[in-house]
Amino acid sequence: MAREKTASGPTRVAIVRGLRTPFVKAGTSFSTLSALDLGRMVVQELVQRADLDPSEIDQVVFGQVIPGLTGPSIAREVVLAAGLPRKIDAFTVNRACATSIQAMVSAAQFISLGQSHVAIAGGTECMSDVPIFTSRPLAQALTAASKGRNLADKMKPFRNLKGADLLPVPPAIAEYSTGASMGESAEKMAKENGISREEQDRIALASHQHAAQAWAEGRFDGQVMHVMVPPTYERVVEKDNIVRADTNLAALGQLKPVFDRKYGTVTAGNASPLTDGAAALLLMSEARAKALGYEVLGFLRSYAFAATDPGEQLLQGPAYATPIALERAGMKLADIDLVEMHEAFAAQVASNLQALASPAFAKKAGWKEPVGEVDRDRLNVTGGSLALGHPFGATGARIVTQALTELKRRNKNTVLCTVCAAGGLGAAVVLERA
Ligand SMILES: CC(C)(COP(=O)(O)OP(=O)(O)OC[C@H]1O[C@@H](n2cnc3c(N)ncnc32)[C@H](O)[C@@H]1OP(=O)(O)O)[C@@H](O)C(=O)NCCC(=O)NCCS
Repeated sequence: MAREKTASGPTRVAIVRGLRTPFVKAGTSFSTLSALDLGRMVVQELVQRADLDPSEIDQVVFGQVIPGLTGPSIAREVVLAAGLPRKIDAFTVNRACATSIQAMVSAAQFISLGQSHVAIAGGTECMSDVPIFTSRPLAQALTAASKGRNLADKMKPFRNLKGADLLPVPPAIAEYSTGASMGESAEKMAKENGISREEQDRIALASHQHAAQAWAEGRFDGQVMHVMVPPTYERVVEKDNIVRADTNLAALGQLKPVFDRKYGTVTAGNASPLTDGAAALLLMSEARAKALGYEVLGFLRSYAFAATDPGEQLLQGPAYATPIALERAGMKLADIDLVEMHEAFAAQVASNLQALASPAFAKKAGWKEPVGEVDRDRLNVTGGSLALGHPFGATGARIVTQALTELKRRNKNTVLCTVCAAGGLGAAVVLERA
């Protein structure tokens, strides 16, 4: 296999370190924090743990899927809040649930072109702190009132408001183009692909069992920082709080469907929960990593993004992106040691695995042959988003760190990481250790 020049560009891009905060259910341990707090903490700690002189950093690429209204360019805010040198360039990316895969790829593109040598890429999300909107009539009244010269003028715009205009408007976790929620889209995929409730619950159970085992064996210790919660810093969050070591098929089987209460199969147990957390990666050109004396976790061998019609099967992006990333890596699925697939919903995981192995899907997609059967024993071996949670902006960087750390532990070489995202998007990357 050629090593000098990879599909990711002329210069090999090294992933030197990865780190994340604990991932916690929205409204729990991080309920008083913001996405910026979490992003700042993980970047500061990543730089400290790497013992990196911050002046070496050229660029920070960071993402947040549901941006706050006060600091929408989260990447630059992270640089400033983390106390990094203010000369560091930063830009914000958003590719829905694949946001921090995009952050990694964007940073890698600058590195592979020689325009940057050391970068931090990642993402953050705080579903405990999502912006709540006002209705358009109330927003217009507030704007008009702000221009009033006296109290009477300021009160006038509110006179014609109706009661319903005062209701807060939360952000929708739904497709703008179709109006369908993510959960409804997962239901559609389960029905159209014939994915049973039992299969979904089995995938959820495996996710919890793998994640619980990884925690119990200390495999996450180097990947997950402790968060001392401001302002008193007396409370320390050390672990994820969604993983259930004690769940079982019977308990999962008793949960009621959420998105189609009558005929559905998607439940709180086989859907990823709303989550708070942040994750970051330290990237360098291979040469710079060597010059600075870093041991490399892995290299970005290839990447691909693809899209499908959101009105069809919204979360089928991984099935479309995977063969492109493999082809760009010059590899077949059989060459891959481990597979990490983001678990938005168990139904989406099962649907994508089915598509990758299906001759009918291959024909529809215009491929010569199916990509292949993913060996379930190599899939999400330390748990996925169903058990660990899914802070949208942070999941990609979490997956990359987890995958490369596990590859090293097993002394294996290659991993395929793939993530579905809103809009019918899919991301896939091939990473290698040597
Ligand atoms: C599905 C969803 C609505 C459930 O939210 P919720 O009602 O707050 O979920 P909870 O955590 O309270 O779980 C509901 C119940 O299921 C139980 N449960 C959840 N997971 C379980 C598991 N693995 N094993 C056993 N029980 C479980 C909980 O204990 C709870 O039981 P209780 O009501 O007796 O306390 C929410 O997680 C959601 O919207 N997820 C989808 C997010 C999304 O769209 N993401 C985008 C993906 S791309």
